Formats: sequence, structure tokens, C-alpha cells
Amino acid sequence: MDREKITLTGVPETLLATLHARACDSRSSHSLLHDRTALDTVRRIDYDFRRTGMNSVNAAGVALRARCLDDWTAAFLARHPRATVLHLACGLDTRAHRLARFPETRWIDVDLPEVVALRNRLLPVPDGDYRVLATSVTADGWLEELPADRPVVAVFEGLSMYLRPADGERLIRRITSHFPGGQLLFDCFNGLGVRMQRLIPVLRRTGATVYWGIDDPRALERLHPGLTCLDVIRGCDLPEVRHVPPLARFEARLTGLVPGVRDVFRMVRFEFPGGGG
Ligand SMILES: C[S@@+](CC[C@H](N)C(=O)[O-])C[C@H]1O[C@@H](n2cnc3c(N)ncnc32)[C@H](O)[C@@H]1O
Repeated sequence: MDREKITLTGVPETLLATLHARACDSRSSHSLLHDRTALDTVRRIDYDFRRTGMNSVNAAGVALRARCLDDWTAAFLARHPRATVLHLACGLDTRAHRLARFPETRWIDVDLPEVVALRNRLLPVPDGDYRVLATSVTADGWLEELPADRPVVAVFEGLSMYLRPADGERLIRRITSHFPGGQLLFDCFNGLGVRMQRLIPVLRRTGATVYWGIDDPRALERLHPGLTCLDVIRGCDLPEVRHVPPLARFEARLTGLVPGVRDVFRMVRFEFPGGGG
């Protein structure tokens, strides 16, 4: 089998870290995601995965956040099966494959053109109403051209921190003003996480930079009338943490003891009105 040689650098290269983490999780007896496609995909890639700095502890952290977003997405779709799922910065993530979707759900994956090209070569196309868009999320126009006939659940994992704060806030404004209600589900760093970024191996090795630290997620409510923060959950407090390997559980417990550090990485869920709530 010819393996796919990876030429991505900078922020796009970081998708190898999260892919590798999901593959590690799927091999573990503690698996939270059971993502066989991630494992198969890693095997088809020619890349030195040691560059990602992933080990069983931080792979469990990635699996935890993915599981949280999977669960929130599934809960939204259970209430709104006809919704549009706007999965931004999809990378080589297989959320559309992992989640049992309704036939009437519309799924749109979005990432940069070089990532979408790689995705199209490596991943099977999921069933149902599915498409993938090759664009920067900060580019003008693409979002406004999407049909706005249904509530949206906009899911973005491993994206917000790489955006400039003004671009992140503009993205939230564009989603909330375009769609007739829905939810925003994403992970974020706080300001301390941005200041400490050079301690994170994948950022050091890929040269990627994070810019947007959100100290008070509830302050984003000002971006759209009725935008409401439903949940802010620290990475170390995610409910599935009880299922991760003992060392990862221990690290989460330690992190939880240190003010500031325990908020470095959080999951947030927002709702905005318009019939999609
Ligand atoms: C850490 S990876 C996460 C990928 C995927 N969500 C996952 O969990 O495996 C970061 C992703 O953000 C994407 N990304 C960064 N900036 C972007 C932008 N402006 N527009 C679209 N995608 C972007 C990168 O190409 C990459 O796929």
C-alpha cells in the first residue's frame, strides 16, 4: 500500500496530533471513541507521528474533548434531526462517521483547501446529506451562501485558539446572524494557555501559534442578542474523565487543583434563539 506523504506545516499540521490521539484512544482498552477509521487512516499516512508529542495521557485528553462534542452534537440532533451540522476545522476528524445521524440531517465539513484535498484522498465519504467545503473559515462569503433554512449546530474542535480574537468573534457573529437559531460547541484556551503555548509540544514542533485566549466565555454572549452560554466545562472536569487511564485521571485531578491552570482548556456550549434552541 502506498502511504500518503504529509507536507502540511504550521496550524494544518496539528491535525495529525488529534488524529493520532483518536487512533491511540481507539487502540486503548479505555477507548471513549472507538474510532476505527482514525486508526486505519493513521496506518495509511507516511508521517513521523512522534512529532505530535502524543502519549497515552494527552491522547486521553483529546478523546475526552472529542467525546464531549460528540455527545453535545448528538443531543442537539436528537431534538433537531433536520438540522445543519457545520463542522468547522474538521481536519481528518471522522465525527460525521462516528455519530449515528438521521437521514434528514445535513452535514457540512469545512477546512482549508490543502486539508480538504488530503481528506478527500484518505477518508471515505460518509453516508447521507454530506459535503465538504474547502475554505478558510475567516474568508468572506462562503458562510453567507449556505442555506439558512434549518437550525444549526456549529461544532469546532481545536480551532478557536488558532484564530485572532477579532476573527473568532466575527465568526460567531456570522453564524449566529445567518442561521435561524441553534448551538455553538467548541473548545477554547484561556489567556494563560496562550501565554504558556511554547510548553505544548505540538505547537513547538509544528510552529503553530495560538492567539485567542478566552478568560470569560460568558462575555461572548454580547456578540448576538439572546446568545446564551449553557455550559463551561474544564477539560479536567469532563464527565467521562472517570473512564480514562489512571495516569490521565491523576493528571486531571492535579490540574484541577491549580487556579488558572485548571481553566487553560475548557469546553463551551452556547445557544442562540430563533427556533433552533
Ligand atoms: C488541531 S487541528 C483540529 C482538527 C480537527 N478538528 C480534529 O479535532 O482532529 C486544527 C485544524 O484547524 C484548521 N484550521 C485552522 N485555521 C483554519 C481556518 N482559518 N479555516 C479553516 N480551518 C482552519 C486546520 O487546518 C486544522 O485542520
